[in-house]
Amino acid sequence: MTLFEPIKVGAVQLQHRVVLAPMTRLRNDENNVPTELVVEYYRQRANPGGLLITEGGKISDKAGGFPHVPGFYTEQQIEAWRKVTQAVHEKGGYIFAQIWHGGRAGSSLYLDNKPPLAPSPIAAVDRINAFTGKPYEVPRETTKDDIQDIIQQYATAAKDAIKAGFDGVELHGANGFLIHQFLSSSANQRTDEYGGSIPNRARFALQVVDAVIEAVGAERTGIRLSPWGGEEGDVTDGDTTYETYSYLLKQLNPKGIAYVHFVEPRDDFIRETVDLVNSLDPFRDIWQGPFISAGGYTTHPESIAARAKETGDLVAVGRAYIANPDLVDRLKNDWPLNKYKRDTFYAQGAEGYTDYPFYAKA
Ligand SMILES: Cc1cc2nc3c(=O)[nH]c(=O)nc-3n(C[C@H](O)[C@H](O)[C@H](O)COP(=O)(O)O)c2cc1C
Repeated sequence: MTLFEPIKVGAVQLQHRVVLAPMTRLRNDENNVPTELVVEYYRQRANPGGLLITEGGKISDKAGGFPHVPGFYTEQQIEAWRKVTQAVHEKGGYIFAQIWHGGRAGSSLYLDNKPPLAPSPIAAVDRINAFTGKPYEVPRETTKDDIQDIIQQYATAAKDAIKAGFDGVELHGANGFLIHQFLSSSANQRTDEYGGSIPNRARFALQVVDAVIEAVGAERTGIRLSPWGGEEGDVTDGDTTYETYSYLLKQLNPKGIAYVHFVEPRDDFIRETVDLVNSLDPFRDIWQGPFISAGGYTTHPESIAARAKETGDLVAVGRAYIANPDLVDRLKNDWPLNKYKRDTFYAQGAEGYTDYPFYAKA
């Protein structure tokens, strides 16, 4: 397999395997509505037969509360997203919406002074909340009614995303947010059927998947997971990581979803610090559908191609796709890459967002 061989993902026939990784860029307005700049950003990165995944967008106004991230729950948001999906489709591309609940990584500052919800009342450790500059708060433990309510919010957001013209949705089950918190034995210390054993910890994720499948169809449903990637606090699983995620994949296999999307076990996304102990390979072996992997593939562009050839995976690219709107053409033609500027990852305005140059042939 090479990076430039076609592959079918859900209902979508892709022409190659380079995917825009989901990336929060904070260019949405104060009502979590994508701006014209957001439309332009995705238009620039759209390409024939290529898949884009949006930044994480809230499934409801209660899903965490982060300023300037988008949402998938108001009419205004859906109308604005429609412009994005149209722009991408006009260029022959495809786009999935990443739907997100922050769980304990949220902040009461943006939740009407109410604490964020999480599987257990345990604050995320090790990190300052990047959105508030303060330590993470102790969340409130979700009741079973809360859980049912949140599952419904995922389903409704998925339906709204499809109404906005998306080709599918990706459940954000990675990076220490709500679904990941339920999967983790450190963040989830419940004693009911949503905590404890591996099947119990996986129950929430699987119920969300089922609800979203019912809402929009399996071929429009994907999920992102990061077994070792607890960016937002400690979401480890003791020594049961392989077992937890293997169980989850075995349960997901018969559901026939569009794809699973795994984040590589790498420190700080830097290829030079490859985690040599852990590997996604056992999960590649279990999974029977399209497998997207992400993380650190672009430090050396040739490593993307090598990895895809080795594994047959689709490869999602983050930082290099920020800096190279025409990344796919550059990889195909072996053109040099622009360097990304970290200080504008989470800024406002066009700088470092829509002003990266396309490759100009001399
Ligand atoms: C600015 C920025 C924002 C990100 N936001 C998200 C996000 O909203 N959802 C998500 O699943 N991952 C997010 N990530 C992680 C990326 O999707 C990707 O896994 C990571 O950048 C590693 O890939 P790379 O080495 O190609 O950059 C973000 C990464 C960056 C750099």
